[in-house]
Order: sequence, then structure tokens, then C-alpha cells
Amino acid sequence: SGVPPAGANPTNEPLDRVRVDGAGQGLTTNQGVPVADNQHSLKIGLRGPTALEDFILREKITHFDHERIPERVVHARGSAAHGYFEAYKDLSELTRASLFSEAGKRTPVFTRFSTVAGERGSADTVRDVRGFAVKFYTDEGNWDLVGNNMPVFFIQDAMKFPDLVHSVKPEPHHQMPQASSAHDTFWDFVSLMPESTHMLMWVMSDRAIPRSYRTMQGFGVHTFRMLNAAGESRFVKFHWNPVQGTHSLVWDEAAKITGADPDFHRRDLWEAIEAGAFPEWELQLQVFTEDQAAAFEFDVLDPTKIIPEEMVPLVAVGKMVLNRNPDNFFAETEQVAFCTAHIVPGLDFSNDPLLQGRIHSYVDTQISRLGGPNFHEIPINAPVVQVQNNQRDGMHRQAINRGRVNYEPNSLGGGYPAQVGSRGFTSFREPVAEDKVRGKPELFADHYSQARLFYNSQTPVEQSHIAAAYRFELTRVQTPAVRERVLANLVNVDPVLAAAVAHGLGMEVPPALPMATDRPLPEYDPSPALSLLSR
Ligand code: HEM
Repeated sequence: SGVPPAGANPTNEPLDRVRVDGAGQGLTTNQGVPVADNQHSLKIGLRGPTALEDFILREKITHFDHERIPERVVHARGSAAHGYFEAYKDLSELTRASLFSEAGKRTPVFTRFSTVAGERGSADTVRDVRGFAVKFYTDEGNWDLVGNNMPVFFIQDAMKFPDLVHSVKPEPHHQMPQASSAHDTFWDFVSLMPESTHMLMWVMSDRAIPRSYRTMQGFGVHTFRMLNAAGESRFVKFHWNPVQGTHSLVWDEAAKITGADPDFHRRDLWEAIEAGAFPEWELQLQVFTEDQAAAFEFDVLDPTKIIPEEMVPLVAVGKMVLNRNPDNFFAETEQVAFCTAHIVPGLDFSNDPLLQGRIHSYVDTQISRLGGPNFHEIPINAPVVQVQNNQRDGMHRQAINRGRVNYEPNSLGGGYPAQVGSRGFTSFREPVAEDKVRGKPELFADHYSQARLFYNSQTPVEQSHIAAAYRFELTRVQTPAVRERVLANLVNVDPVLAAAVAHGLGMEVPPALPMATDRPLPEYDPSPALSLLSR
């Protein structure tokens, strides 16, 4: 046991410093005082009142009283595992990120999968987006790829995120429903937010009820940058592809499993790893240039758009293997702090306005969730490299920094630690000369082409599942105007789908919502709609 210094190595061996195995040991208090009797409080006579001086009782109860911390404001329900990332090849032409520097290089990872809307104790198999967050403990600091199992998102700007989450969480007056998208507030919000249309297609598809965490794809969603040693930049999108294949449940199964075993995904991941069936994912990249991006008919900074693989093919650059369950759920899975701002030399952000807001949000929430500014010292969050800087003090400080100098510049500390210049993290020198404005680029306004692309990519059975999911969800929406707006929006995606949902609800197909773009709609023939739901 003992307190880890800053920079304690969270890979298997160095964690031994903080592992505690109580078997065969004598019981002590937190001060290490041997405890004689762990069953009885100190009383004045066997039947008398309890003495206030019973510091052993008070310590035990006090610790218990504070055993819970606030759950994550989103993604509260999750499960995680340790493993490694192995690079397939040297990517130094593309990036100087050290984890990609040579074929066969291994980097430890800790990966947490989650639902988004439900609370910490909610069921695993509800219809929801899944989080897919990977912490790479690289030899140049931690890189967190904080992604989802869907490649797009509901909104285009971080300004809208609190409203989105308020709408999807249980309604504020009665805290219902606990973990479902089936309610008026969520559908009200998205029906007024046509940019959510593409993401809704994914959420109403079978992708939102995965068979297992092991059978989910993962996506970085945003466009990022890779930078090589010469400072040249390419855009990149990150994809995780499960070697186990991508599989989903069907809705009836999911609903039954939710009742019978709310831990279905947690149990599946744990048991697979205990049994030695280690899940694997390939990391695949879509790499493209600024010039290519400028020629696309969508904006690569818009997180409601994918880049079709026909336009930019996927290249596999490594694999992740999850091979060890955590020792302790709270210490590791609950206290892990992923953050889009955790990025290493050779990688960089793009100006995606959703990503830009995320860079602030994670560390901010974690300061309150994990009690102050020192949560990077918690073993699961500490990088494998030594942390060296002049940041000091704050709640729960673990590192004992020595010496009188905690400022820079200084002439008294031997010049150490010193900034490392171009060896350190450098941002891409992006030329920017624009007006300071609120608003969005014109290309962000096409909300339907890619929603339709996704719908058309589905098999007839999968399309019928989407229609059935919309119908089911909208039967839970009590406000007629909200249902109508959702349908009017769907007409823009596929009138046949809209008609199928309307028919299932006993409603007329409303006129299409006005579109911000003038792309042609598919021809409207109502007859196939009627058979769509019965497939
Ligand atoms: C968790 C904010 C969009 C993926 C969180 C948390 C916050 C947050 C505050 C809780 C973090 C914690 O307590 O440790 C935001 C904001 C967003 C946004 C402000 C948009 C502006 C996204 C998007 C993705 C995503 C687009 C996927 C690409 C995740 C994941 C987690 C998470 C996977 C859970 C991490 C874990 O397992 O601990 N987000 N989020 N978020 N977010 Fe986001």
C-alpha cells in the first residue's frame, strides 16, 4: 500500500504500489492502529449509551457516509477494462505521435463503454447511444479518444449540448422516464432541431441496441488532425472496428433482457475477459487533405456528417486488445477521467464547434465530480511518464514536490523543469483571418442527404426496425404537435418511412418541414409504406 507519487504508472506492475490485499492481515484503522473489536461500539456498560469518544466507530461510519461521489452528468452507467494498443506500422510520415512510431509498438489502454442517458444503476440494454472512450497511456503523455458507437452526433455546436441533455434526461418535475428516449421532452427538442435528423436515424436503428460492448464499432466522430515532424497536417477520422463483428439485439429481446438482467453488457464484457476471450478492435483511419475536404459537398467540421468510405477509404493502423478486468470498480471505472483535451504531440483538434466546446467541458465537470484539481494523480488517471510542472496544492494533493521554487522564470531552481520547445506539443499553424461572429457555415444546413444515405444503406429488415422504433417511441409522446413535427421532418428523409410511421400511429402524413437546402426529394409512393412495418 502507500500513496502513489504523481506520474505513477497505471500499467499492471506499477499499480502494485497501490494494490491492497487484506487476506490474512490484521484489521487496522485508517491511521494503522490495530482494531481489537470490529463488532461492538464503545458503550457505558453493556446496555448503556455509546461513547462519543469511540473514534473507531466514528471513522468507520464517517468513511461510509462519504463513499459515493456524484455520478457523471452523462454516460453515468458504464463498464471498463484494461488492455493494450499495438501499432501495425510506422506512421511517422503522417504523425509524430509516439504510439504510432513503429510496427509492433504496444501502448497500455483503459477503455470504458457506457450508455449516455441512464443513471449509474440503470439497465444496459436500453435504446441509447453508447460511449466508447479509450485512454492511451503513451510515453509522451495520455491521449484520450472519447468516442461513441455512432459516427455522428445530434447537434453541431457545443452551445446546444446542455439543452440536448436536459431534454433527454428524466423530466425535471417527476424524474420520469429514467432511461429511455421515449418521452415528450426529448422528441420536442429534436423535432425543433432538424440537424439531429441523421443521428436520430442511427438511434432508431439497431445500432442503438448492441448485442454486446464487444460487438460495437467506435467512432471519434469529429475530424481531428495528425501532424508529422515537419509540421505538415492531414485531417483524420478515427474508427474502431470490432474483430468480433458488429451485432445488435432486436427490440423485443432488448426489452426482455432489460428486465431479466440489467447488467447484461457489463456481465458479458467481464465474463469474456475472465474466460480469456479477449475482445479486439482494429483502429482504422480516414486520412484526407485540406484540399480534398474543401471539395466535399459537406463540411468536415460538421459532426452530423460522416465521410463516406467510398470517398475516403479506411486504413487499418493498429489493434486494441482488452485482456484484464479492473481490480476495483470504484477506483478504476468510476474514477477514470476521460477528456478530449488529453492529446499528445502529433495530434491536434479541428475547429469543429462541438469538439471545441468539449475540450472545456470534461475537465470542468471532473473538477467537481472528482473533488478538485488533482484527479490526474488518481492512479487510473496518472500518465506513465513523470509529471513535472509548477502546479501545486489543491484538494487531495498526493505529490510531495520538494524545493523552494514553484514558479517560472526563476534563477534559484537550476532551470528545471524547463519547457522543451519543438519537442513538446505544438498546434498546427492554421492561418485564421475572419470576423468574430456567432453562426454557422452554409454547408452545415443540409440535414437530410446523409440521413437518407444511412436509411438507404440499411437492409429491408433493418429499415422495418427503424420504422417500428419510431412508431414505438412516438406512441410514448403525448403531445400531438411534437409527433407531427417529427413526421414532417421524416418526410424529408424518406416519405415511405414517414408514411409507415404515420400509419402505425393512425396519423396522416404531414407536409414536409421546410428544408434549408433544395436537394430533390425521392418520389413519394405511399404503397410500400404500408408493408414496411409488417416485414
Ligand atoms: C462524458 C460533455 C459530446 C462522448 C461526458 C461528460 C461530460 C460530457 C460533461 C461527463 C464526463 C465525466 O464526468 O467524466 C460533453 C459535451 C459535448 C459532448 C459538452 C458536446 C458539446 C460528446 C460526443 C461524444 C461524447 C460528440 C462522442 C464522440 C462521451 C463519452 C463520455 C462522455 C464516451 C463518457 C466517458 C467515460 O466513459 O467516462 N461528456 N460531451 N460526448 N462523453 Fe461527452
